[in-house]
Amino acid sequence: MAPPSDSAAPSPQRSPVIPQAGASPRGARFAAELPGHYRVTVEPSGDSFVVQPGENILAAGRRAGVWLPFECGWGSCGTCKATLISGEVELLFPDAPAIDPRDERRRRKLTCQTTTATDVTLKVTRLGPFEERPTTDRVAQLVDKRELGPGICSFTFALDAPADFRPGQYAILELGPDLRRCYSMDAGPGDEITFVAKHYEGRPGSSALHALKVGVSVPIAIPFGGMWLRDDDSSTILIAGGTGVAPVLSLVRHMAEQRRTHPVTVLYGANTPEELVCLDELAAVVAQLRQGKLVPVVAQADDTWEGCRGFATTPLGEIATPAHRYYLAGPPPMVDATMAVLRECGAGLDRIHVDKFG
Ligand SMILES: Cc1cc2nc3c(=O)[nH]c(=O)nc-3n(C[C@H](O)[C@H](O)[C@H](O)COP(=O)(O)OP(=O)(O)OC[C@H]3O[C@@H](n4cnc5c(N)ncnc54)[C@H](O)[C@@H]3O)c2cc1C
Ligand code: FES
Repeated sequence: MAPPSDSAAPSPQRSPVIPQAGASPRGARFAAELPGHYRVTVEPSGDSFVVQPGENILAAGRRAGVWLPFECGWGSCGTCKATLISGEVELLFPDAPAIDPRDERRRRKLTCQTTTATDVTLKVTRLGPFEERPTTDRVAQLVDKRELGPGICSFTFALDAPADFRPGQYAILELGPDLRRCYSMDAGPGDEITFVAKHYEGRPGSSALHALKVGVSVPIAIPFGGMWLRDDDSSTILIAGGTGVAPVLSLVRHMAEQRRTHPVTVLYGANTPEELVCLDELAAVVAQLRQGKLVPVVAQADDTWEGCRGFATTPLGEIATPAHRYYLAGPPPMVDATMAVLRECGAGLDRIHVDKFG
């Protein structure tokens, strides 16, 4: 799969004067007259905003305060698809997983992976707005990096200004030219954020992240993602695979802060016990819940491991019901296997909130 050609993250070379473009009707008019800046008009709302050269439409709309449907922000979920009524666009990530062969015929575009080539009119079919936080562009300076497990580190960045986001959401880091990757915050909003990330040897995004030295700054767009805590008292199951522990930890912390009293089960799966990073921290937060339970699961372990063996889906199969609410985050095979179990048990998609890490 090609590396990200663009996502919602900013480019460092963009003019510091331009980010206000589209934020007000006057600003939008001014910016639209600049070379390469084009206006997007959204139907049926009639809202309009200006897209900077190479910027994706979703990011430009969110920056201007115009609601557009979205969830993943990088091309995997398809939530942001809009119909191109008039004008020309350019695809930023033609191989994005959410692009369907029928989209071309129907002129449906992923606004998160499409930029403008002329002024355009788009029609969105999903109505909004959902409750959300606008995406902001920040500069993040790496202030701390710690090894947590084999090839797994935590990265703490200080933001140049605080960012507002929900626990469970993620940011898009610009790790090099045309190299943008998503990483989930492990705690709620503030001016310092921490990611937990695995290094996949020889692969561009995680290698660039792990090569960062303390003191270095990177552009970051924040927040994205729909895996934030829903306000209900259903019994809840959270499933973390590997570094999926970061958003799950953030969600459980949020539940503890809200003093939620309903049953909460956290399934945390990894290949080996050493890869169950942040386990003590997660256990301490789960212990704060009135009815919290943590089940660590590993695929491979020696005889000293007394816990559950297998995958996170092993204990899930025994406890999943359609009445639960689910939050799951981790690598695609784990997410796909979990979704298969949830489908089998009849859980509705409206009760499942997912961050698929790829
Ligand atoms: C919502 C989300 C949250 C994530 N959170 C975390 C986390 O907290 N910790 C963690 O370790 N990893 C996380 N990831 C995974 C992370 O973003 C990287 O995919 C991972 O670090 C591997 O990147 P790589 O370049 O090294 O590997 P590669 O295998 O080379 O990267 C490929 C992956 O990059 C993505 N990609 C490829 N092309 C594009 C494109 N044009 N635009 C956007 N994305 C593209 C795809 O996901 C693909 O699977 C998350 C991923 C997503 C989608
Ligand atoms: S594919 Fe665009 S928001 Fe998910």
